[in-house]
Amino acid sequence: MTSGILSGRGKFITLEGGDGSGKSTQSRLLQAFLKEKGADCLLTREPGGAPGADEIRELILTGEPERWDAVGETLLFYAARRNHLRLTIEPALAAGRFVISDRFADSTMAYQGYGNQLGVAAVQKIHDFAIGDFAPDLTFILDLPAEEGLRRTEGRLHNEDRFEKMDLSFHERLREGFLSIARENPARCFVLDASRPVGDIQAEMREQLDQRLFR
Ligand code: TYD
Repeated sequence: MTSGILSGRGKFITLEGGDGSGKSTQSRLLQAFLKEKGADCLLTREPGGAPGADEIRELILTGEPERWDAVGETLLFYAARRNHLRLTIEPALAAGRFVISDRFADSTMAYQGYGNQLGVAAVQKIHDFAIGDFAPDLTFILDLPAEEGLRRTEGRLHNEDRFEKMDLSFHERLREGFLSIARENPARCFVLDASRPVGDIQAEMREQLDQRLFR
């Protein structure tokens, strides 16, 4: 244990961004950094992160784009999120652990609210009902031009590609969504240029983490 912040309730850090923005790699590197600092750190992801939420993940991410409409899909993401929060995130924070989540609620606002054009007000209503005012302590938004993100995911071979089948304008809307979330929540969100080398992005994240959570 290295500092006062490590006693008491843990801190919740989320990584957000479009497909192919490198969140998973950056999450793992950040977890390693926190471990080096002597912090106990749980790495998790959405959709998923608890057994029930993992089952919902399978339902949402496989199949044709038309499988769910925007409302049904949003409710499924929030059912999964509530399960993840209650069974995984909250207990870890209560035990004083750091939690890093690869995606959280901002993804629903960006993908369903902006990408699928369900609208900010509708998503916010579901959010308030499902998880209330719970929010991350710090959110990193990995920003990348939509074409670049799509190019990076092109070669991926897996069946969880329902969203990667969406067109370029969908990905452009969701990028704008993330940027507008960042503008509206400047104290919580930090935007990074994700087109740079992995090490440069990670260095900036570590600096922010030190400044914001370890001082
Ligand atoms: P995943 O395989 O985890 O993709 P990535 O590595 O890009 O995070 O699949 C998650 C997909 O689900 C991704 O395309 C984003 C989408 N998504 C939403 O549309 N809304 C949400 O609330 C969340 C958490 C994810």
